[in-house]
Amino acid sequence: MTVGLVPTMGYLHEGHASLVDKAVSMCDRVVASDFVNPTQFGPGEDLDSYPRDFDRDCALLEEHGCSMVFHPSVDEMYPDGGGKTATYVEILNDMPKQLCGKTRPIHFRGVCTVVSKLFNIVMPDKAFFGQKDAQQLAIIRRMVRDLSYGIEIVGCPIVREADGLAKSSRNTYLNPEERRAALVLSKAVFKGQEMAEQGEKDARKIVKEMTEMIEREPLAKIDYVSAVDGVTMEPVETITGTTLFAMAVYIGKTRLIDNFIVEVAK
Ligand code: PAF
Repeated sequence: MTVGLVPTMGYLHEGHASLVDKAVSMCDRVVASDFVNPTQFGPGEDLDSYPRDFDRDCALLEEHGCSMVFHPSVDEMYPDGGGKTATYVEILNDMPKQLCGKTRPIHFRGVCTVVSKLFNIVMPDKAFFGQKDAQQLAIIRRMVRDLSYGIEIVGCPIVREADGLAKSSRNTYLNPEERRAALVLSKAVFKGQEMAEQGEKDARKIVKEMTEMIEREPLAKIDYVSAVDGVTMEPVETITGTTLFAMAVYIGKTRLIDNFIVEVAK
């Protein structure tokens, strides 16, 4: 029997549903975890305000054929209390220091720790993660390789609203004006994709164009717009192999991410 795990922090949307659908299509049983993980939030981040609606999550999971939901308490996951632990799983190369790691220095240590724990508890054959968190996906692939987990990691495409905005539980923080302004992320992604499709190989030119587009939106404040190697997360200047164009942008107080990948033969 093949068991698939869909790790989530709840407040599920169609992006999560697409992970469950993929898992259902590839596995005999699908377990979703629904746990807002304190160790991946830094001081001053949105741990307390992170949206939660477990009943709605269960309804969505059932509708999409999920077999079981794992919804532990913080103390069950972190028995030291207060979401603390003495043991972390951490990648020590530069992968977690790039992109989101620059402003969220403990984030990926918390993600790797909780995902390791979920792997040990659920013991899945396959685990499903969204491509929207491209750095997280790359880091988890690396962790699975380095710790010999023997779990197949399946990356699933970004799911977007009809107008282009990438689905995110954090979109709920946006007021109507910010919701309109947030479209600048996907517009920059589509512009970058178009440039790459038209043959632009200079990653710096694409990043510059995307950056300038975002800077024209008064409500947007760029955290980063970068081109990196899609596996190592090292910055690149030219598109070769798998190149990830990724961004994090504040719209008001809400930090949103988006990205696209360009694959070319090396
Ligand atoms: O992507 C998320 O929602 C979280 O980072 C994850 C993988 C569920 C770990 O808490």
